[in-house]
Amino acid sequence: MGMRNILKLGPIGASFCESDDSGRGPRPHPRSQVEPEDRLWFHTHNTAATFLSGIHLKAILKTFQTNLRTRIEALRIDRRWDEIPDLYQFIYKTLFPTQVEVLFGTSFLALNPNFLQDFRDFHKGLVYLLRGYPSWLVPTACSARERCLGSIKRWHLFLKEQEGNENPPRDEERSRLYGSRYIRTLQKKYGRMKPLDLDAVASSELGVIWAANSNIITATFWYIIELAKDPRLLSRIHAEVGASLSQTNDSRSTIDTDRLCTRPFIQSAYAEVLRLHTYNFLLTTSEHSDFNFRGWKIPKDQMVGISSHTAHMDNKAWNTGLVDGKAPVETFWAERFLIYEGSARSKPLKMEHFKRRNTQRHSTHDLHSFSNSSFASEENYSSEESPRFCLDELSGIWIPFGGGYSLCPGRHVAKAEILLAVALVSTAFEFEVLDQLSLKDRFMSRFVSIKDKGLQHDMRYFGMGVLPPKDKVAARIRRRVERD
Ligand code: HEM
Repeated sequence: MGMRNILKLGPIGASFCESDDSGRGPRPHPRSQVEPEDRLWFHTHNTAATFLSGIHLKAILKTFQTNLRTRIEALRIDRRWDEIPDLYQFIYKTLFPTQVEVLFGTSFLALNPNFLQDFRDFHKGLVYLLRGYPSWLVPTACSARERCLGSIKRWHLFLKEQEGNENPPRDEERSRLYGSRYIRTLQKKYGRMKPLDLDAVASSELGVIWAANSNIITATFWYIIELAKDPRLLSRIHAEVGASLSQTNDSRSTIDTDRLCTRPFIQSAYAEVLRLHTYNFLLTTSEHSDFNFRGWKIPKDQMVGISSHTAHMDNKAWNTGLVDGKAPVETFWAERFLIYEGSARSKPLKMEHFKRRNTQRHSTHDLHSFSNSSFASEENYSSEESPRFCLDELSGIWIPFGGGYSLCPGRHVAKAEILLAVALVSTAFEFEVLDQLSLKDRFMSRFVSIKDKGLQHDMRYFGMGVLPPKDKVAARIRRRVERD
């Protein structure tokens, strides 16, 4: 329904998607009749999982860092305070074109210079499109969507023209100009699926642009808000960014992403931002038989929705501070995901809950036995004294990326890009959120909920990932003085 209503996928494409009952795993469901090249969900998932990790991830992050640095340097912001009407839009305008260029190459925005504005107008009406409002009720979003789809199709025609090029560029240059290996491989796979015409492929790619951008931008925004509020956290994060720098051949410093992504504070605050601001509605179904979900019998083909917010706000599970009650689940606590050796109470989960989970394992019949096992290796033991970042034992409790077979294949890109964006933006600029200046006294407390800070989520986007702010967030900004 989402594909049809939001992305304007036509009836043939939609029925092709709906008829793929082969699953996302490498082996098709034994009762499925779908041809191997038509396994849409498997190819979508597998292409992303393959080309958004390992060496491909490294290439993506290198381009992301270079592009974002260039964009930040080019911004006309100097050392005097300047007012911006909306911090969220500032982050959006900086990150969106960076990410589109990283995935789709520089040719995409060169051909479609208005794409940023068009996508923004489309995104503003997304919630109404999802509910199936007719075009005359949401004319701005519908015509913006037409322009977005038109831009993608124009780009495809341009790519076709390049195929005749006698001297095709080498791989790195090809990715820079015509799109990442991820997008180019996805196009090849979709190209082999006969029922998917250019309109259907454009709809799917609009979905990829949405999936790859909206959550990263909003998560970076909330992270920057937390840093603007808490100078102690900011200096801790900056210390970790400083310790992750390495020199390039031309003696400029660059962030070593592997090092950055294994520092404890920057990771813990990231996990907390996603816990607090992600409101996903994870949909799942069993296409071939009834199933048992924790004692409930769910009929075949019945949709089940799992709310990440409910898990993320589970008072019985989450640790609420070294001295209990200091950091309730509704508030941001940058250290919630840290373990201090020797302190039995410093764990993301309450000790009682931790013990209970270890004795009562989930039933193996669970449809969605949410697993974050892939995160376990991301832990970091920095030193005996330093805290350690921990996502252990959080399966089914910390689920911003979903779980099971549909666990987001873009999660590694997401994490690294959010941390890089936070590092680059917060070391380049100082921010003060204007709406909150009058609430400075309340700011002195580290544990205030976003409501107390006068900031609220735009609940119209409930269920769609990391929520954007409800209102504009006016801010003062100035460039930081570079330290020698
Ligand atoms: C903070 C950032 C992100 C969050 C919170 C997030 C969350 C999610 C969730 C919850 C799902 C599963 C939905 C379901 O259960 O059906 C998902 C799927 C997906 N995500 Fe992400 N995502 C993020 C970033 C990204 C990025 C950066 C990319 C790509 C560059 C991406 C690509 C995808 C794709 C392709 C799928 C569909 C996979 C499939 O059909 O199996 N995501 N994401």
